[in-house]
Amino acid sequence: MGIVFAGSTCEILAREVAEDLNYELGKLIIRRFPDGELYLRILSEVEGKKCVVIQSISKPQDSNFFELLALQDTLRDMGAKEIVTVVPYYGYGRQDKRFKEGECLSAKMIAEHIQLRSNKFYTINIHEEKILDFFEIPAKNLEAAPLLGDYFKTYELNSPVVLAPDEGAITLAEGVSKVINCDFDYLEKKRLAPGKVEIRPKKLDVKNREIIIVDDMIDSGGTMIEAIRMIKQQGAKNIFVACVHPVLTGNVITQLFTYALDVVATNTIPSQISFITVSPLISHALK
Ligand code: R5P
Repeated sequence: MGIVFAGSTCEILAREVAEDLNYELGKLIIRRFPDGELYLRILSEVEGKKCVVIQSISKPQDSNFFELLALQDTLRDMGAKEIVTVVPYYGYGRQDKRFKEGECLSAKMIAEHIQLRSNKFYTINIHEEKILDFFEIPAKNLEAAPLLGDYFKTYELNSPVVLAPDEGAITLAEGVSKVINCDFDYLEKKRLAPGKVEIRPKKLDVKNREIIIVDDMIDSGGTMIEAIRMIKQQGAKNIFVACVHPVLTGNVITQLFTYALDVVATNTIPSQISFITVSPLISHALK
């Protein structure tokens, strides 16, 4: 029997995981002093117990990351036997290499700090799997594709195509299509002439077909909106949009709903479109 502790980004998710596993939900107080500093106090008895901490590194990334470290540190000081850290959304994952000399390798720095006070680590659809190589404790990436697939299965679409907006999301698109039992493809950018770029599916024709576009995250929405515009021009019928991590900067949801029949995400980050819970994924991994 373990205890699940929620960081402030994952309160509902942590409760669901605790219920699934029949674990206790840890009692704690998290609030801010008037100057913005964190006050954190753990009220549950944790000595000698397995503790699971669930916290996403979502906006505001820096203070949520600090909160995660504070939770781990306090649990360790209070004598937790084992600390399992679950970071459903690994913020800073896009800073996984030094694009220019002297840049901070933020994805590595985060890994190094998380593992200082943790025995095991889980995340979901991390931007690049190689980030896990920065960890020296057991670290695993969980795939949310089957959950997105299950969601769209209920729509009973007519021979849909699952499309990735670029090659980077092709594994996700394939995973979703496997559950729905349909075609998948990715959008390829071709330079036809100087200043003339064409974006279209690598293999399939989207004309008159129902399309589900999937990506690991939607941030500004730029990638998704460009993808939708292109396939609309190419005759796609109904368009559905899904992502794992709804980072959602600005009024991107409103923009997406002007093009798509449905826009859905998981609750790795709570949002207006987080209709798919990743709790079964986490609970299964922790069992
Ligand atoms: C890119 O590598 C990612 O998979 C996403 O496509 C990208 O980060 C989405 O960002 P935005 O919504 O700002 O285009």
